[in-house]
Amino acid sequence: MSKIFVKDYLLTQNNFIERCKNLINEKFKNTPTFFVHSYGCQGNVSEGEKIEGILKEIGFLKVNSLNDANLIILNSCAIREKAENKFFSHLGNVLNLKNSSGDKIVGVCGCMVQQNHILKKIKESFPSVNLVFGTHVIDKLPEFLFNILTNSKMQCFNISSEENIVENIPILRTSRIKALVPISYGCNNFCSYCIVPYVKGRERSRDFKIIVNEVKGLVEKGYKEITLLGQNVNSYGKDLNLNNAFLKLLQEINLIKGEFKVRFMTSHPKDFSKELIEGISKCNKVCKHFHLPVQSGCDEILKNMNRKYTKKQYLEIIDYIKFLMPKATFSTDIIVGFPGETYENFKETLELVKKVKFNAIYNFIYSKRIGTKAAEMEDLIKKEEKTKWLEELIKTQNEISYENNKKYVGKIENVFFEDVLNGDENFMVGKTEGNIMVTCKKDEKKIGNFCDVEITKAHRTKLEGKLI
Ligand code: 5AD
Ligand code: SF4
Repeated sequence: MSKIFVKDYLLTQNNFIERCKNLINEKFKNTPTFFVHSYGCQGNVSEGEKIEGILKEIGFLKVNSLNDANLIILNSCAIREKAENKFFSHLGNVLNLKNSSGDKIVGVCGCMVQQNHILKKIKESFPSVNLVFGTHVIDKLPEFLFNILTNSKMQCFNISSEENIVENIPILRTSRIKALVPISYGCNNFCSYCIVPYVKGRERSRDFKIIVNEVKGLVEKGYKEITLLGQNVNSYGKDLNLNNAFLKLLQEINLIKGEFKVRFMTSHPKDFSKELIEGISKCNKVCKHFHLPVQSGCDEILKNMNRKYTKKQYLEIIDYIKFLMPKATFSTDIIVGFPGETYENFKETLELVKKVKFNAIYNFIYSKRIGTKAAEMEDLIKKEEKTKWLEELIKTQNEISYENNKKYVGKIENVFFEDVLNGDENFMVGKTEGNIMVTCKKDEKKIGNFCDVEITKAHRTKLEGKLI
């Protein structure tokens, strides 16, 4: 196991921050503006908040439209081909805008650019991009910007420095009530279909005390929902030689005074121990919602995916959670059409879905990722066939979601109201502890608070209720 070095952002960047500030004063008549778009998972959104934090500190102002921005950064996601195609199409639009307006700086970063074939494509097909930087060097943005502001040629920094964690990077949080807190970066699991370990590097856990202090600070500032993030949160601390560290972290955070809830994602079934389940059941601030990606309900496919658990073991975890926490809700990720998967194999996934009765499923058709083990496997099933399977899965799950939701009608649920409902100013929207969306007549002062709600109506994807 290689040693992890915790570095301080200011130690390497202070000099560049000051130089950037001076350069900005010289170069721009008005305060320069930025627009950052993050694709993909919550982890990427959290990285985007750091990029925004750095830009704000240097003296840029956040704007909400591409047109108004002097600096545009697209923070890419490499998880599936669809995400990559979307990124390239947006990048094309952004560069057209740059070419017609003349004075924009365009940067691209994130998981996609960490892959050499993508880097090559950007250099060849999108030469007017100014800056390319990978997932391991976000903290060096002031240095990169200084270079860009003094030299207009495309500059690429996608080196990999996997043994580092950089702390003290400023964060511009998107919300005043909900916060994302990464507890680890990277992944060691090498599921055979997944590109993440190649682009995000080995698993690195953040320091226990630093995380607890960050959460404390957020709660003091009034944040009410803290989501702990990692590719595999329940293996947190293994690289620090800490035993049961994820549970200990939850227990420590649970002791923090104040009215707030904790969520976590994503968990891996292979690391979901009985002890962790028992511990979570006693933490009143930890939401009893379990996002536990199963990927497939067929042992043969799970083995080929390198998931390291069986269907039986997965169901035992679910059953034990249901036994200790009867109100617990579940969501999962499923890949349809993994190489070599037959319809018979897929039917086992359908059976598992019916048994668990998830509240939500995130389904994906298998997407071949260059460099992964699965990319070498024979994949004979046509896309049209896989799409049919996917539709069958969606239909099955839709019925289950509706049946699950109907059980809440007439019951009281504690709801954290987050915002006004998009599209209807008279309503507000929130989530139950089980992560189910609830809408209610608006009461402005309840937004940002936990309230008891009587559930009056169920839909497939949400509940309606009234405040009591
Ligand atoms: N193809 C399809 N889905 C994938 N995922 C990860 N890699 C792939 C891939 N190559 C899905 C998994 C994972 C989620 C974040 O994305 O279900 O849990
Ligand atoms: Fe990818 Fe598996 Fe790691 Fe999740 S646990 S990021 S699916 S390799």
